[in-house]
Amino acid sequence: MADDDAETELEARLAEQDAFEPPESFVEQANVSDPAIYDDFEDDWPACWETAADLLSWDTDYDTVLDDSNPPFYEWFTGGELNVSANCIDRHLEERGDEAAIEWVGEPVEEANRTYTYEELHREVNEFAAALRELGVGEDDIVTLYMPMVPELPIAMLACARLGAPHSVVFAGFSADALATRMDAADSEYLVTADGYYRRGDPLDHLGKANEGLAGVEGDVSDVVVVDRLGENDDGFGHGLAEDQHDYDDLIADHEGASVDPVARDAEDMLFLMYTSGTTGKPKGVKHTTAGYLAWAAWTSESVLDIKPEDTYFCSADIGWITGHSYIVYGPLALGTTTMMYEGTPDHPERDRLWEIVEEYEADQLYTAPTAIRAFMKWGEQYPERHDLSSLRLLGTVGEPINPRAWKWYYTNIGNEECPIVDTWWQTETGGMMVTTLPGVKTMKPGSAGPPLPGVDAQVVDGNGEEVSPGQAGYLTVQKPWPGMLRTLYDNDERFIDEYWAEYSDTDSEDPADWVYFPEDGAKLDDDGYITVLGRVDDVINVSGHRLGTMEIESAIVGTEGVAEAAVVGGNHEVKGEAVYAYVIVEDGYEGDDGMRERIITAVEDAIGPIARPESVVFTPELPKTRSGKIMRRLLEDIANGEEIGDTTTLRNPEIVADIEDAVGK
Ligand code: PRX
Repeated sequence: MADDDAETELEARLAEQDAFEPPESFVEQANVSDPAIYDDFEDDWPACWETAADLLSWDTDYDTVLDDSNPPFYEWFTGGELNVSANCIDRHLEERGDEAAIEWVGEPVEEANRTYTYEELHREVNEFAAALRELGVGEDDIVTLYMPMVPELPIAMLACARLGAPHSVVFAGFSADALATRMDAADSEYLVTADGYYRRGDPLDHLGKANEGLAGVEGDVSDVVVVDRLGENDDGFGHGLAEDQHDYDDLIADHEGASVDPVARDAEDMLFLMYTSGTTGKPKGVKHTTAGYLAWAAWTSESVLDIKPEDTYFCSADIGWITGHSYIVYGPLALGTTTMMYEGTPDHPERDRLWEIVEEYEADQLYTAPTAIRAFMKWGEQYPERHDLSSLRLLGTVGEPINPRAWKWYYTNIGNEECPIVDTWWQTETGGMMVTTLPGVKTMKPGSAGPPLPGVDAQVVDGNGEEVSPGQAGYLTVQKPWPGMLRTLYDNDERFIDEYWAEYSDTDSEDPADWVYFPEDGAKLDDDGYITVLGRVDDVINVSGHRLGTMEIESAIVGTEGVAEAAVVGGNHEVKGEAVYAYVIVEDGYEGDDGMRERIITAVEDAIGPIARPESVVFTPELPKTRSGKIMRRLLEDIANGEEIGDTTTLRNPEIVADIEDAVGK
């Protein structure tokens, strides 16, 4: 048979296949391969979570696995004490001291990459912890980390954890305003940042943005530490260090050989805050704790990502998001493996960059986002074909639904049909994975994340909270607490209840059975109990797997001079999944022209960052509104997607729909 024919036949077979068994070679060596785990965990809940706690080293043993006396303020492993940095570093020194903890691949490509063995990581984390302590950072002080993908970011996270100081990492792509808002919201007086980083080979000015953000912070800022990433290359930016700014390398040199005893923290003490988008303009400070979070990150890394200490594990996310926290830093290091970090983009210097890295480092796992996979697919299989990817044993995806075509492309062209794929559903709030297949146990169904993990009680319910029948769509809920769950929103217990619990819980009840967690995702259930997550049901857009609140973007737009009103919706996008579409009404006396469009785009980039940049800005004389004055977003979504417009009879101003369609066409 000619090659072409063989390929066509293979494609046809794959296109039809909707279930894939895990490869035998994988099952034989998998960390979890006994299907009994599902029943065992159900029968033994919540004690089953001792399995996760057993992956950690405790300074003081816990007394109770779950304290559910005050729902939804659950507490896990109460009475226990431990330190996260000791769990991620110190306890591995004896067996893994000379092995790589972090393999960092930086840009530009010709520059040396860096390897940190566990010994080296231990040394630098101690030195930086000593420096932070001397600057005045103590237990419970929140330290903001506004850093690109440089090794000093996980080092700073671990140094904070060593001191018992929670960190709040702000994604480096976020704007100066976003930094200031987050520092103020967390009452954070310390900032660790960097002078810059490289994108597609060019240096980017980061300190300028950080300084601008600092100027906007209303609270006190005590000290700022700046990592020198660019060396000589930052001459053009011309920022010196201000008086309260310290050079990271100088601090490390001043504390050479220092040793800081890891501070024993209560299981429920805060490990970090992570700000994420919600339905109002104000980001939510999701609080994660020491023991429950680390146990969850470690247990899911072991059972889902199949991580073993001798692996080289590669997650291509940014540590500025929760995926990087749980699955570049905390989970993998808790297991003592080698975790990789890549500073750059997958298309520089060429579109085979990721495959070059996988080959060079002989990565065992690759965990990435559907957006990236769709881009790889668009670029073509000639790029992965240039490289030997046979070191890969498992593939993963996270952040958004993956369409079956992209799944199969990943399975064939990257995994060579030999690697299971885990499509992992979870959120910033869940701390780690919740719904996905155990790769050594379960059949994979492209497009469906899978059943809930053992011990996780995820159910798809209808509007009344009743479980839907197979084949039906409804809302995803989690009916029982889990160790990795957020404990509250920083300084805002009320919003915590409103946002996540009020929908399906009896909020007056003290019985945990009456409390149901609502992640605000729609989902579908099949006959085998597999869950397909359909996407957000609130006003949150998922751009390239990153959450953006429509309200945040709208408030940036209406802040632009000459804008009277704005509505933002998510429209389909071939690569990003969703993209931002803005509909804007201008004030009398202003013109909705290209100049105004540019000003709006700049305003959004300044308030949030380039990630929120609108794909399209449409000027319209009115927005479609119901008689009660509510904007009909669904119609705007239909228009953005070029779909047939649904029912307009409930509109106060149905004639506006044609006008908007016209404006889009222009
Ligand atoms: O809508 C779901 C989608 O991403 C949201 C969580 O976003 P974030 O907190 O930024 O965390 C992203 C990384 C975990 C969810 O509410 N989502 C995440 N994973 C999947 C997904 N949608 C479908 N399938 C997934 N595997």
